[in-house]
Amino acid sequence: VSLKNFNTFGIEAQARYFVEINSEEELAELFMDPQWHQTERLVIGGGSNLLLVKNFEGLVIRMNIRGIAHRINYDEVLVEAGGGENWNELVNYCVDHGFAGMENLTLIPGSVGASPIQNIGAYGVELKDVFESSRAFEIATGQVKIFSKVDCHFGYRESVFKSALKGQYIITSVKFKLLATPKLNLSYGAIEQELNNRGISQPTIKDVSQVVAAIRVSKLPDPSTIGNSGSFFKNPVISAGQFQSIIAQHPTVSHYPAGEGQVKLAAGWLIEQCGWKGKVVGHTGTWKNQALVLVNHGGATGQEIYDLSSQIIDSVYQRFGVTLEREVNIIQ
Ligand code: EPU
Repeated sequence: VSLKNFNTFGIEAQARYFVEINSEEELAELFMDPQWHQTERLVIGGGSNLLLVKNFEGLVIRMNIRGIAHRINYDEVLVEAGGGENWNELVNYCVDHGFAGMENLTLIPGSVGASPIQNIGAYGVELKDVFESSRAFEIATGQVKIFSKVDCHFGYRESVFKSALKGQYIITSVKFKLLATPKLNLSYGAIEQELNNRGISQPTIKDVSQVVAAIRVSKLPDPSTIGNSGSFFKNPVISAGQFQSIIAQHPTVSHYPAGEGQVKLAAGWLIEQCGWKGKVVGHTGTWKNQALVLVNHGGATGQEIYDLSSQIIDSVYQRFGVTLEREVNIIQ
């Protein structure tokens, strides 16, 4: 089965076996199949955080559990969505109903079920800020377990599903806690600026959602026309000491606070300084408006993209002594 339409990089790669799952019951049926326990598995949602460097010789499980429901309880709104729902459609559902909290996460590609795995985030908000709990199917036992926010150990682009429990659970649905009375997060400068440009002084969640969408469209390539996986690397977190020596030499280094004694650098800035921004390398390159995004200009292999990422890691290390870490899930 070709996976080309199941990864937003648009990489041509094959899966030996492929199954689409529409309910928890279908997962339970799959669990009863003796082959389940012998075959290597790859679970995919929107395929927006995935780089396929090779064909996959096991079973690809495409999660397609649908459904969105909500319950309003005074000022609090609980929204539950199937893991196979499209993330941005869920955001639109919430914005249209006036449920606040997700508007800054507008237009992030991918599925609801993938969102807790790397604690997706943008424009000052992270998934963990709206997360209530998740249902997850345990691959070894076939049991469904409920994960609370604490159970998930969320960090910057991190959760227990990427670390201690990696590969052990399949998220089937996610419950979110939102607000009926908005508490906007406008901490990210670009949002305020764009609201000002539009002459909006008392923004609604719909305004914020539209502004975030406009910022994203201006900076990030649309995967339906140019294959990409969003930010390819994490923004590196370094010690305050190392930061002092970097900023002494590079006074304009773009950075964010990252807790006591630590500083987060904008990887896009580091990559741009090394001359990679907008560069085309064979069928691949970095995006002209955001160097942190690697792109497939058409016909690239996963290996080519991976090789480009290795070159970028090397040059950023040589220039700044900082090691970039890939954020995208690499299958090789
Ligand atoms: N910058 C450059 N050159 C570039 C790109 C960025 O100099 O080519 C500098 C600019 O100074 C800019 C700063 O870096 O002000 C930050 O850039 P941006 O606002 O685009 O954010 P980012 O740190 O590069 C992170 C997330 C994005 C998220 C944005 C907005 C990560 C790895 N990426 O990017 O998330 O949309 O912030 O909140 O944390 C994703 O994870 O796939 C993703 C797109």
